[in-house]
Amino acid sequence: MYTQAMDLGPQENAQAPRHAVEQELLRRFDARIDDGGFIEAKDWMPDHYRKTLVRQISQHAHSEIVGMLPEGNWITRAPTLKRKAILLAKVQDEGGHGLYLYAAAETLGTSRDELLDALHQGRAKYSSIFNYPTLTWADVGVIGWLVDGAAIMNQVPLCRCSYAPYARAMIRICREESFHQRQGYDALLTMMRDGTQRQRDMVQDAVNRWWWPSLMMFGPPDSSSTHSAQSMRWGIKRISNDDLRQKFVDATVEQAKLLGVSLPDPQLAWNEQRNHYDFGPIDWDEFHRVIAGDGPCNRERLAARVKAWEDGAWVRAAAQAHAAKAAARSTPLAA
Ligand SMILES: [Fe+2]
Ligand SMILES: [Fe+2]
Repeated sequence: MYTQAMDLGPQENAQAPRHAVEQELLRRFDARIDDGGFIEAKDWMPDHYRKTLVRQISQHAHSEIVGMLPEGNWITRAPTLKRKAILLAKVQDEGGHGLYLYAAAETLGTSRDELLDALHQGRAKYSSIFNYPTLTWADVGVIGWLVDGAAIMNQVPLCRCSYAPYARAMIRICREESFHQRQGYDALLTMMRDGTQRQRDMVQDAVNRWWWPSLMMFGPPDSSSTHSAQSMRWGIKRISNDDLRQKFVDATVEQAKLLGVSLPDPQLAWNEQRNHYDFGPIDWDEFHRVIAGDGPCNRERLAARVKAWEDGAWVRAAAQAHAAKAAARSTPLAA
């Protein structure tokens, strides 16, 4: 997924360039951004651009690996072998997305250990959507349809992000996210078309619970998004939170009709003047509460990540010991 939290975090002031050389480097950097060019890891970049990217890419990476947890919860209980194989592949993809993204963040000079430490200490954010529970099998389908669907809307513009290592990672990730969205929609279609009334009710219940948190994935409204303007200027962000959210609503309403479910918003209606769907107000208090750590599953998710890190300590130690032995063997003895 899952880039929503990118707009959150302490406001930092762009640092004024200190002397003429730096000013010239900044001028060239700005000119390249204005030309639609890309910045590579070895290129000069302003500190604030680097920090913004480290924060955004690491939040994105954390979201991918925390995002493995709600669905991983259903691997042993998938209804058929086919669904189990698909879900296993999907959850594994999310782990892979996390790894590409940690690698992209490391190119900016922050180590993976530092990034993970910030997550484990509760200093780093991840997408609030993964702090909601997966109560039934229908939740797995709805996550694919709505959560991965929202992720695609957020992430496709990132394939043109000005920081090239991030943009390259996103191209591959987006291809996999579109498979995730389709598998979720397909699982729901099967339940709605071939299932029992109880199964159809289960799908509707899951849609009712996930709809509003999915809309929150696009981040705060443009009017109160602290980092958006600077990120747009730098070509990190290409489309605003509100525009992406609108795009998602417009596409999803039609998919809901085909599926035969209703969306839990009495104010949802086509607006001919705007050529878009209108929708009701989002509960931003809930969003801020969940982001601040007080959602239904925040503590459980963080505890699961910390436990996985601690349980894996012996694997990291063994890999390092093996690498040290291999290096010692390949070092020619001094004459
Ligand atoms: Fe992903
Ligand atoms: Fe995904």
